[in-house]
Amino acid sequence: MSPTGQASQVVLVVDFGAQYAQLIARRVREAHVYSEIVPHTITAAEIAARDCAGVILSGGPASVHTDGAPGLDPAVFDLEVPVLGICYGAQLIASALGGEVAHTGRGEYGRTTLSVTDPDATLFSALSGDTTGVWMSHFDSIAAAPPGFTVTGSSPDAPVAAMAHTERRIHAVQFHPEVLHTEGGQAMLEAFLYDVCGCEPTWTMHSFVDTQIEAVRAQVGDARVICALSGGVDSSVAAALVHAAVGPQLTCVFVDHGLLRAGEAEQVVGTFRRHQHIELVHVRAADRYFERLAGVTDPEEKRKTIGELFIRTFEDAAGGVEDARFLVQGTLYPDVIESGTKDAAKIKSHHNVGGLPEDMDFELVEPLRNLFKDEVRTLGTELGLPDEIVWRQPFPGPGLAVRIIGEVTPEKVATLQAADAIVREEIVAAGLEREVWQYFAVLADIRSVGVMGDERTYGHPIIIRAVTSEDAMTADWARLPDDLLARLSNRIINEVPGINRVAYDITSKPPGTIEWE
Ligand code: XMP
Repeated sequence: MSPTGQASQVVLVVDFGAQYAQLIARRVREAHVYSEIVPHTITAAEIAARDCAGVILSGGPASVHTDGAPGLDPAVFDLEVPVLGICYGAQLIASALGGEVAHTGRGEYGRTTLSVTDPDATLFSALSGDTTGVWMSHFDSIAAAPPGFTVTGSSPDAPVAAMAHTERRIHAVQFHPEVLHTEGGQAMLEAFLYDVCGCEPTWTMHSFVDTQIEAVRAQVGDARVICALSGGVDSSVAAALVHAAVGPQLTCVFVDHGLLRAGEAEQVVGTFRRHQHIELVHVRAADRYFERLAGVTDPEEKRKTIGELFIRTFEDAAGGVEDARFLVQGTLYPDVIESGTKDAAKIKSHHNVGGLPEDMDFELVEPLRNLFKDEVRTLGTELGLPDEIVWRQPFPGPGLAVRIIGEVTPEKVATLQAADAIVREEIVAAGLEREVWQYFAVLADIRSVGVMGDERTYGHPIIIRAVTSEDAMTADWARLPDDLLARLSNRIINEVPGINRVAYDITSKPPGTIEWE
């Protein structure tokens, strides 16, 4: 049984290079078949134990001829489980089963034309003609298919662009059916899933909810469960799901550090306590935070102070929930895959509600650990959470403190909240809230001279930051319309006391970061 409780309906994607594997797993789920990514070190016995419907070998950056290139337990091919090899995965099949992979010196990158050479090829059954545009990215290529395989497609620079052994249910393609540039790529994957693996397109968010509810109940029994709620989409959806499973056994702790945006604390309490009827402990800790932050101006010291105080505050509140044995975390699939392989230089010490101490004596409940971010949003809607939570823009754990340059005081937070509320209102009014990844105001601790109503002013500037991004790893400044920028400037200066200048940040990431600290 898979963690979703759906026996034999999981397709395993063997990872030979993470960026490809993730995309393949997504496409399989879009075909309503549940998929999971597994490392290439998985053994045939482990795959057999998963009782899966099929295995997809992903592409990857290596060459099968390189020493130490990632391999696969050859016994996998004897399991009688359907296999689809993509790019590197195709070459691996060729070299493992007696074919030939050549270093021809003629790679193929980008779009090329695939000619279908076998009219009975299962994968290409949905194509309307016998050629299609496919996307290639390979240096080596298959020079000879292994014995028993039929060449099902070729391209100008890849004589064996696709091959299949129908009886053994092993298929391979040199191109990438998972990328959108491959015409008919999704239909090819679906042909593998439905016609070769015999999967039914039954995996939906609704079925996921049902199986997860069962899984949470089985894990938790009648014990008490606690959840640190931030109002962010991940912890909110995780809490709503666990509540759907165990109802009053769940207590959420919302540490309100006083550094949230205007109206946000009320929204969290309103959504969870009043509408979802979840038991919610609202810890009003703003005074403690401001006291600790007095005089702190260094960005890293600010982050550390807030992170540590969060842990202490949460621990105090959790201690009040008697017999809590389980802790809900909104861990997502990309976090699970990347953890352990991430070796990035520390730019900022991130803090979020996931940053709880390791020595806390809880067993983790992570109902979202098999989902991608947009699937979590779909799930949130399915569970009845409002759009303001489900589509909330990313917000840093340390809150507005990293958007106030210099010392954080209650007065500065109030000023920034007022300016930030205007930025949010106007972006929403312009209909740009889903197009722009993040949009917010930053308060700088410098002052400049201005003139308002014949009077000299000496006030602080507000910097508007709005960025487009796919994943926050890189970002570009959003090209907001001039009239929107003009409205933002007018409203902020007229409505927020102490602000006499507005600037727009036109820095991409890198070299900047999205947040200012
Ligand atoms: P930067 O500023 O590093 O931010 O470009 C990248 C993304 O991460 C968010 N961010 C945080 N999220 N805890 C979080 O949960 C944090 O401490 C934190 N700091 C930054 C930021 O808003 C952006 O989406």
